[in-house]
Amino acid sequence: MSEQGVDKGKRRFLTAATTVVGAVGAGFVAVPFIKNMSPSEAVKAAATTEADISKMDPGMQLTVLWQGKPVAIVRRTPEMLATLDKVAGELADPNSSDSVQPAYAKNKYRSRKPEYLVMLSICTHLGCVPLYKPKPGEVTPDWQGGYFCPCHGSKYDLAGRVFKNVPAPRNMDIPPYALFDGDKKVLIGKDQA
Ligand code: FES
Repeated sequence: MSEQGVDKGKRRFLTAATTVVGAVGAGFVAVPFIKNMSPSEAVKAAATTEADISKMDPGMQLTVLWQGKPVAIVRRTPEMLATLDKVAGELADPNSSDSVQPAYAKNKYRSRKPEYLVMLSICTHLGCVPLYKPKPGEVTPDWQGGYFCPCHGSKYDLAGRVFKNVPAPRNMDIPPYALFDGDKKVLIGKDQA
């Protein structure tokens, strides 16, 4: 093809575009080197987070980071625990058959001890952080308390069990954890302190 008739402006654009693509390509090439410098998977899996829960008032939620993920710790009142039975008929998986939790948290409280919920605060739809809405009527008139995800409207009860007919497919996950020091502390990431 002859050089005549080639649009010089178009050529400049194509040259610039190729340069940008080249730079992005170099970014991808760099990823394996950066990955090699990060801690091994075994080290990351062993990482734990300790939280002091001795100053939590009844009804309060504390959020801590574990392996870069938000973990909600809630000190539930007897009134809050009573709502778990009230909403059971409206839940997609009230017995947590298809959800992720250690064996000791496979109960209606989804916890080692009913008073304390320790849960990954990550919506199982697309990973937003649901809002803690513990008060009756806070989200809908018949709301008993729970979690509301503002991204696409998923709803969970005060044990992180998902309601029917919302985008989220399963209950929120419960990580391995231990209560210790007379229930004044929580160790997240391990079953025993
Ligand atoms: S991410 Fe929570 S509803 Fe979509």
